[in-house]
Order: sequence, then C-alpha cells, then structure tokens
Amino acid sequence: MSTLALRVLVTGAAGQIAYSLLYSIAKGDVFGKDQPIALLLLDITPMMPVLEGVVMEMQDCALPLLKEIIATDKEEVAFKDLDVAILVGSMPRRDGMERKDLLKANVAIFKSQGAALDKYAKKTVKVLVVGNPANTNCLIAAKSAPSIPKQNFSCLTRLDHNRARSQVAMKCGVPATQVKNVIIWGNHSSTQYPDVHHCVVNMSGSEVPCFDAVKDDAWLKGDFITTVQQRGAAVIKARKLSSAMSAAKAICDHMRELWSGTPQGEFTSMGIYSTGNSYGVPDDLVYSFPVHIKDKTWNIVDGLAINDFSRAKMEATAKELMEERDTAVEFLGV
Ligand SMILES: NC(=O)c1ccc[n+]([C@@H]2O[C@H](COP(=O)([O-])OP(=O)(O)OC[C@H]3O[C@@H](n4cnc5c(N)ncnc54)[C@H](O)[C@@H]3O)[C@@H](O)[C@H]2O)c1
Ligand SMILES: *[C@@H]1O[C@H](CO)[C@@H](O)[C@H](O)[C@H]1NC(C)=O
Ligand SMILES: *[C@@H]1O[C@H](CO)[C@@H](O)[C@H](O)[C@H]1NC(C)=O
Ligand SMILES: *[C@@H]1O[C@H](CO)[C@@H](O)[C@H](O)[C@H]1NC(C)=O
Repeated sequence: MSTLALRVLVTGAAGQIAYSLLYSIAKGDVFGKDQPIALLLLDITPMMPVLEGVVMEMQDCALPLLKEIIATDKEEVAFKDLDVAILVGSMPRRDGMERKDLLKANVAIFKSQGAALDKYAKKTVKVLVVGNPANTNCLIAAKSAPSIPKQNFSCLTRLDHNRARSQVAMKCGVPATQVKNVIIWGNHSSTQYPDVHHCVVNMSGSEVPCFDAVKDDAWLKGDFITTVQQRGAAVIKARKLSSAMSAAKAICDHMRELWSGTPQGEFTSMGIYSTGNSYGVPDDLVYSFPVHIKDKTWNIVDGLAINDFSRAKMEATAKELMEERDTAVEFLGV
C-alpha cells in the first residue's frame, strides 16, 4: 500500500452522483483503508460556486485519508498525474434537443477529456466513464488518448448488474450476495441484455442454477429483463431525479474490483473495448461483457454457452452501439 496519495479525478463533481460518491472514495471504501487520497474535482465554470460548497462539506467530514482536494474548471489542472479518472459529467438531454446534437456535444466533451488524459495523466491511469451515453463516450475518450492502453478504459454497467442481481435475489428470498454471475451484455440502455443463464443462487447452502432457483422461466425471459432494462426510467419517474445513490454505489463496486480483483469464482460486468475476439461481438465498440479481474487487469470470461435467445439480444444491442459509434466517429473528425 502506497503512502503517497492516490490522485483520483471525479468530473461532474458538483452533480448528484458525485455528491453520493465522493464520501465513499475519501473514506477508504474503494482503494483501501490505508490508502491516502488526493481528490481532483472538475466541473464547468458556472458550477464552481456549487462545487465550493461540496469542498466545504468534504473538509467538514474530517476524513483521515483525504490529503488534498483540488476543485477546478480547468482540464490541465484536473487531469494532472492522475492514477484514476471517474468521468461522471456529460451533456444532459434538454427538452427539444435532437439525439444527434446531444451526441455531438458529448463527443466534443470526451474528445477533449481523452486528449487531456493523453497529455496530463499517468500512462497507467484507470478511466471509468459514467456520463451517458457511457459506452460511446468511453470509446471516444479512449480513441482520443492514443498513449494510454484501451484496456485501461471502461464504462459503467455495474449498476445494471447490481439491479439484475437484486431482482433475482428478491424473487428467491435471499440476500443479493447469494446471487452471482449475472451478466449485462451490450449498451447501458434499454437494449442491454441482462442474462441469467450462467447465474447461480446459493439456496440454503448449495448453489443452484438461477432457472431452477427462480422456477419461473416466463418471468426470467420477460418481466425480469424489462424491469432491469427500464429500471433507470422507473427511478426517474418516481423520484423526479435519476438514480444517484445506486449509481455511486455501483461506481464504488466497479472501481474496488478493478483495484482489488473479483472474488474467486465470480465475475462482474463492465463495458470494455471489444477487439472482435469474444462472443461474436464486433470490434471497435465499448460493449459490456462478463469479466474476471486480477492484478488490476480484466479478462473476458470465455467459453460460456450462448443460446439463440441470448444471441439475438446480444446482436441487437451491438447493432445499436455500432450505429451510435459511426455517428460519433464522424463528429470526432470535425
Ligand atoms: N452508466 C450508468 O450506469 C449511469 C447511471 C446513472 C447516471 N448516469 C449518467 O451519469 C451522468 C451524471 O449524472 P448526475 O445524476 O450526477 O447528473 P447531474 O446533472 O446531477 O450532474 C452532472 C454534473 O456534470 C457537470 N458537467 C457537465 N458537463 C461537464 C464537463 N464537460 N466537464 C465536467 N463536468 C461537467 C454538470 O455541470 C453537473 O454538475 C449523467 O450523464 C447520467 O445519465 C450513468
Ligand atoms: C446507448 O445507451 C445510452 C445510455 O443509456 C443511450 O444514451 C444511448 O442512446 C444508447 N444508444 C443508442 C444508439 O440507442
Ligand atoms: C451458501 O451460503 C451459506 C450461508 O448461507 C454459506 O455458508 C455457504 O458457504 C454458501 N455456499 C456457497 C457455495 O457459496
Ligand atoms: C492498463 O495498462 C497497463 C499497461 O500500461 C496494464 O499492465 C494493465 O493491465 C492495464 N489495466 C487494465 C485494467 O487492463
């Protein structure tokens, strides 16, 4: 464990996800209870007064591991010597905004932040993209940072993974920790495919395949999938705000396992750069796969059997991502 402070950037730092996230990072829940942290907080200029309030609260938490807080609207300050970058801020959809214009605005943000990573961050930096459209923003950031390995970029689908796990657990009447190896395939959107064909549930001491534990195939192939796919929208409808607490928790789970590894025999889901060598997913997409993580390196879990039901859903979400990529890459050129 290094006694040097780990330099961790959170963008969108004045927003609601960051408000739930910063405390967990600074108190040691993600990088360990002995790891000092320097927090770099980036937001846009009009949000600097709000960010100042967040900084005051972080100071008032009086946390032993938090050695330094730097709040800024300047990329050259925020991205300097980073060990970890958590890119939460992005352009939100406004009323009347065309899908293409929204994508264009986000390509501009993630092109610029990718270039800043390339220029200022450590070459070993781990980058997690959360701001939507997360998969494509991650792809654009990775393409804009050619000196950093593409494997060091990932996007968040752990929230979807946790949602799927919890739905199965509630159906079986067990804690979520007794459900393992659900998979989220593809885009972080309503076309994502939450797959339970390799999921097992620990029922009174022994591991049972998910379909045998749930005993309701129609639910697993129907309402379960749509509930997970549309959970984000359901939270917005109820709360009038998007998921923030659960998103922050998922970011912590993602980063902690990237840092310390996945538990023995378990895998997790994350959006990673596809090289076209796994499960027939096309290359040059950021697509969510099942992964094992060890020594800060992920490996796609290979050799899982994929039936026709799953195959069709995996292809549909890939198709959506290819279209979005092609439009985004056009914007990247201009
Ligand atoms: N991948 C996932 O699972 C997941 C889950 C939940 C939310 N999200 C996404 O996370 C993002 C943030 O959500 P939130 O609820 O915190 O939103 P929010 O609107 O509360 O906060 C976003 C913050 O980002 C800032 N920002 C905008 N552009 C920026 C830029 N170029 N650089 C730095 N900061 C910038 C805004 O000023 C704002 O303070 C959204 O895009 C949301 O859709 C993703
Ligand atoms: C992929 O998912 C993101 C995040 O939900 C969404 O914004 C985007 O529109 C999706 N892509 C397509 C092409 O639908
Ligand atoms: C299942 O859960 C029980 C506790 O409820 C635990 O003792 C046991 O080790 C678990 N089994 C497996 C295979 O994880
Ligand atoms: C990040 O890149 C380094 C090489 O610079 C590599 O050793 C490491 O495994 C990569 N991390 C991940 C998460 O793949």
